[in-house]
Amino acid sequence: MTSAKRKLQPSDALLLVNIGQLVTLRTDSAKAGPRCGADLQELGIIKEGAVLCLNGKIVSVGSAKDAMRDAWLRKNRRKVAEIDCASKVVLPGFVDSHTHPVFVAPRLVDFEKRIEGASYEEIAAAGGGIRSSLEAVRETSKGALAARIVTVLQEMTAHGTTTVEAKSGYGLTVESELKSLEAIRDAASGWPGTVVATLLGAHVVPREFQGCSQKYVEIVCKEMIPRAAKRKLAQFVDVFCDKGAFTPNETEQIFEAAVKHGLGVRAHMGQLSETALSPFLRFHPASFDHMDHVSEDDISQLARRDTMATLVPGANYFLGLKEYPNARRLIDGGVPVALATDYNPGTSPTISMAMAMSLACTHMKMSPGEAVAAATINGAWALRVANRKGSIEPGKDADLAVFEVKDYREIPYWFGANHCAATVLNGVMVARA
Ligand code: NIG
Ligand code: FE
Repeated sequence: MTSAKRKLQPSDALLLVNIGQLVTLRTDSAKAGPRCGADLQELGIIKEGAVLCLNGKIVSVGSAKDAMRDAWLRKNRRKVAEIDCASKVVLPGFVDSHTHPVFVAPRLVDFEKRIEGASYEEIAAAGGGIRSSLEAVRETSKGALAARIVTVLQEMTAHGTTTVEAKSGYGLTVESELKSLEAIRDAASGWPGTVVATLLGAHVVPREFQGCSQKYVEIVCKEMIPRAAKRKLAQFVDVFCDKGAFTPNETEQIFEAAVKHGLGVRAHMGQLSETALSPFLRFHPASFDHMDHVSEDDISQLARRDTMATLVPGANYFLGLKEYPNARRLIDGGVPVALATDYNPGTSPTISMAMAMSLACTHMKMSPGEAVAAATINGAWALRVANRKGSIEPGKDADLAVFEVKDYREIPYWFGANHCAATVLNGVMVARA
């Protein structure tokens, strides 16, 4: 087995053995950076594998045979909790790098209107959409919001997700955005997994600022961002840059403020219409998300950089769109692609990364292997945590997902089912009931 240092308390040791396919996603040391092009398929599968975790970190990864011969393990065997995976598949825990979990109610009226033929933009213009979720969040206590987020995190755990990006964005006042971020922090503190918080104060221009969006942008830049940064409530700032939301110029102002206050940036881009991306590259965005509409020129600009294209096909599915982001054009053009759920009440009410992967395969022609890498190691790149998340390698956090299947390709194949049998989050094992 390939090992890292073992100084830790064996009482917190976890050994997974008898793994049918151990999908490591291990890094090729010659190739730094996110997975692009043909490398997106390189899963580093070990058959009949084993993983040893100590105190929340992965220390050994290899074949079960090697593990059993390991001198340290033989000596400490009784102190190690051993999990027989019975030939199941083990993946790195999913990294869901785009979610909006701070809302109160589903938008069932929007759902019905869309079924009757109205579009997302038409519903938003008629008073539905994001703006119709604001009042409830403004009125709900931090504790009640946190309790809702805890439930979502538990559901995600049961589906194999161990790292989650969580955005605010349904309050859109200084107080309610900070309250949303505090709710994310409080929910995260009781969850063994890892949460990366994002301030999405620029989700849409709230009704009270309609016709004077610049005033709202100034509140985002001069109040929300500095206060969230000072209190370390967010690592990233996101902007919904599209028609009906924020303009490229407003997005640049918001990015400028974020960078000035030491926060990373990311944006919803190209969901409804195309926006030229090059003006934003100077801010070194962690990701552009959605990317349904993107020019050839921007694809070549993004190739082999570490700004990820995060694709969220759940949104296309739920909005009943015929078109999906052109993943093949992006991947074959060398752009690093991640997959995420975009969990939110308007366009993608799913926490299932397996569902996002299935849609990626069937509607975006990504191979199952590409979908696995995009949902794990490239998700970790999208959150700038690839040094500790997204692959099963010594030294990384012990984030694993055990699936009750024989072949990893079954995960996107059995769509709508949850085959996750257990999840390990920073070394804490949560088995499904
Ligand atoms: O990613 N496009 C912006 N934000 C969400 C939708 C939010 C909502 O409709 O509530 C998205 O699709
Ligand atoms: Fe989103």
